[in-house]
Amino acid sequence: MAETTDNVLEIRDLAVDFKTDTGLTNALVNVGFDVPRGKVTAVVGESGSGKSVTANCIMRLIQPPGRITGGSIAFQPEQGEAFDIVSLGKKDPRLLDLRGGKISMVFQEPMTALSPVYTVGNQVAEAILCHRDVSKEVAWKEAAHMLERVGIGDIERRMTMYPFEFSGGMRQRVVVAMALVCNPEVLICDEPTTALDVTIQAEILTLIRDLQRELGNSVLFITHDLGVVAQLADQVVVMYQGRVLEIGTVRQVLKTPVHPYTRGLLAAIPGLAKKGQPLSTIASVVGDTDITTPWPLVTLADGRQVSLPPDQIPEGAS
Ligand SMILES: Nc1ncnc2c1ncn2[C@@H]1O[C@H](COP(=O)(O)OP(=O)(O)OP(=O)(O)O)[C@@H](O)[C@H]1O
Ligand SMILES: [Mg+2]
Repeated sequence: MAETTDNVLEIRDLAVDFKTDTGLTNALVNVGFDVPRGKVTAVVGESGSGKSVTANCIMRLIQPPGRITGGSIAFQPEQGEAFDIVSLGKKDPRLLDLRGGKISMVFQEPMTALSPVYTVGNQVAEAILCHRDVSKEVAWKEAAHMLERVGIGDIERRMTMYPFEFSGGMRQRVVVAMALVCNPEVLICDEPTTALDVTIQAEILTLIRDLQRELGNSVLFITHDLGVVAQLADQVVVMYQGRVLEIGTVRQVLKTPVHPYTRGLLAAIPGLAKKGQPLSTIASVVGDTDITTPWPLVTLADGRQVSLPPDQIPEGAS
């Protein structure tokens, strides 16, 4: 494996197919980007661009009819040897250690992660017991501590309650607590606020940002909301139809987007006042540039990476 770098994840040439009755879909084509350690990397793109499939590859959650057909995801833990997540066997202990331990995930819908039949306290404590060799008492205490940190009060009583007794925002706080309780190196958030009311969305985003700063973990934040990107991210990856079109710092991508698609995405923001409105009209804004061919990424003079047809690559790019 490559030498130690400052990236906790390095995704290269990742390819995923879904074989369905209607044919083969290339959900990901040569997807590659880095997740720098201790930073927030946002993945943006319209519905169907491959954001969730990418996240699911990192957790190795791709199920038939889906299949990872190529590429690698190098995971470089803070301690220990780097390894390729894609090539791990299904029963490899490193995979079990990874899921919910070194890498954890917060999904859009809190009830995806929570069981309706166990108390909130039991579920958070169980997340600890799955990955660490501590007593039930210690796990319960740490669960209480984490739940307090995510802003849940009246803790002893609330821990004995069931998820259905909580509001949507409170449930997502519990999910965040569960995801962070083993102090993962990478926290993947897949549209964690889309299912919540606007005011609650802001609270959860602030919570994730504050905890990230406090705990120093690396966050991969999936969203189609560029407002959220501006608020939260250090690094931005723009995806379209299973491909990466532009990678740069939040400043580069939001202030001076290079790829016509990214420009279209930004230009469309005022029209996106309605929450959840699809971005599928963006393609009409990009003009003549071919955005369907998977042109390789080139690095521009300012360090960002963009996928462009050869005749549109600016001077100084490599
Ligand atoms: N279970 C599945 N069966 C068949 N095809 C799938 C499946 N899951 C994903 N795909 C394919 O992968 C593509 C990317 O899906 P993905 O869920 O990653 O999109 P996304 O960017 O997360 O979109 P959204 O913003 O709607 O969540 C889809 O357009 C679809 O073609
Ligand atoms: Mg998705």
